[in-house]
Amino acid sequence: MMLYVIVPWCALFTFTQQATSAEKCVCELTNSEEAFPHDTLSTMEDNASKCNSEITSQKTLELESLLLGLERRLPQLQDDVSVLEKEDDGGLYGVLSLQVIENEIMDIKQLIDKLNSTTLGHQLLTIETTKQLENLKAEMQELEKYDTMQVVKRQQANQRLKRELNQCRNGLHSTIQPTQPQHGNCPHGQFLNITGPRVYTAGEYPGSYKYGAWGRDPKPEAGKESWYWLVMMTSSNRYSHYVRLYSSLSSLIVGVSIPGNVLIHSSNPTTNTIQGPNVVMYGEALYYNCYNQDAVCRFNLSTKTVTTLQLPKGTRFNSKGNFCHLDECYPYTDLDLATDESGVWVIYTTSQDFGNLVLSKVEEGEQLMLGQTWHTSVYKLGVTNTFIACGVLYVTRFVNKDVEEIFYSFDTVTGEEKFNIGVFISKMAPNIYALNYSPVDQMLHAYCDSYMVSYKVLFG
Ligand SMILES: *[C@@H]1O[C@H](CO)[C@@H](O)[C@H](O)[C@H]1NC(C)=O
Ligand SMILES: *[C@@H]1O[C@H](CO)[C@@H](O)[C@H](O)[C@H]1NC(C)=O
Ligand SMILES: *[C@@H]1O[C@H](CO)[C@@H](O)[C@H](O)[C@H]1NC(C)=O
Ligand SMILES: *[C@@H]1O[C@H](CO)[C@@H](O)[C@H](O)[C@H]1NC(C)=O
Repeated sequence: MMLYVIVPWCALFTFTQQATSAEKCVCELTNSEEAFPHDTLSTMEDNASKCNSEITSQKTLELESLLLGLERRLPQLQDDVSVLEKEDDGGLYGVLSLQVIENEIMDIKQLIDKLNSTTLGHQLLTIETTKQLENLKAEMQELEKYDTMQVVKRQQANQRLKRELNQCRNGLHSTIQPTQPQHGNCPHGQFLNITGPRVYTAGEYPGSYKYGAWGRDPKPEAGKESWYWLVMMTSSNRYSHYVRLYSSLSSLIVGVSIPGNVLIHSSNPTTNTIQGPNVVMYGEALYYNCYNQDAVCRFNLSTKTVTTLQLPKGTRFNSKGNFCHLDECYPYTDLDLATDESGVWVIYTTSQDFGNLVLSKVEEGEQLMLGQTWHTSVYKLGVTNTFIACGVLYVTRFVNKDVEEIFYSFDTVTGEEKFNIGVFISKMAPNIYALNYSPVDQMLHAYCDSYMVSYKVLFG
């Protein structure tokens, strides 16, 4: 037994001895394959990411909004010309209309010039990018020959199979979706979704004013149906003392304001100054949170007079009941004014509601009055904005810098609250400081970190 154990020990010893005393051992590995060109792959990666960063969705949107502007502008010109033709009595009226048309043609020319320079830029970019993509494709195919184990080929086949499987699954899903009940109160049907951005512009003052609001007056004076308004917080990101008007969407995009500013007061801030960005225009009047007051102000643009509407005792104001997300609160967003098919609303919060959203109808008679009020169970500090469409309040929250979610709704007709709306807004800038629905064309106008963006609301 003893001997049996010793023998292998001896054997091991002699083996080790032999190994250390041996000459240097050289192992020759002959590889019939070429070495993988890592350098080429890494330059290709750089080239591809350069390609990606040059073509952004902003570029296509810029073009889209210019075209949209032109599309809306041309019928307007046609209408005006035909009015002029009818009215041409050789007198003063004809001369005046001619001037209006000259202005319009100037606007359109500016728009076309901008479009021309944009499309030229895009053409160059397209040619350049196509060339680069072709190069990349050729090099990629060249590199595929190193895939001797067929790993990439199999991965590609797997991905294709997975895609087909998903398509198959989704196809099954869509056929068994339950039918939605009819919504009785909205002429457009039930709220379904929001499109991607339809208008995206930096406007006349690119990047100058982070906070503001813009939109269309749903009940304009005759002849001002295509006008747009813009209010920017021009002082301390909090206050403003004028409304800027544009005679069309394209004028707003190219930044030509023919009507110019309508001033509330020459000082800013002072009594009746606009405080906070969530303002709206309705019936030739601007509705907003008055400076240093728990009240709604109405500025009549024709008479330049201000009427106020005192909100209930306990209403939070002066940045005490703001819209917020986890990282920040939006200053002076205590009062959110809104428009829908039925008129003007105000959304706010009070101490007696423990910070939950409250909404009231604003009765816009000669005297402003507070109409019916509804109390919700959604906490204002956890939401970023609201809008109202067809008497239903929709509430948004911040998901990340690219996405906002419409997560909650409150139907003022049925009193029903829903916390599972799950409609996502694709953002062009991180913060939506003002959001309002235009009942005229079902567009949602957002003012985000100085950009003006709009979306179409889809009903069905
Ligand atoms: C990367 O781009 C440069 C310049 O466009 C080009 O000269 C080069 O061949 C490209 N390299 C690869 C690996 O695609
Ligand atoms: C567009 O721009 C180019 C180059 O600046 C110019 O040659 C051309 O005439 C322009 N076209 C129009 C329709 O303005
Ligand atoms: C809503 O619209 C977005 C963007 O157009 C789309 O990705 C999404 O699938 C739509 N959602 C529904 C429920 O139709
Ligand atoms: C603005 O004032 C004019 C003149 O008093 C009046 O006719 C109009 O109704 C007012 N507009 C609003 C929205 O109050």
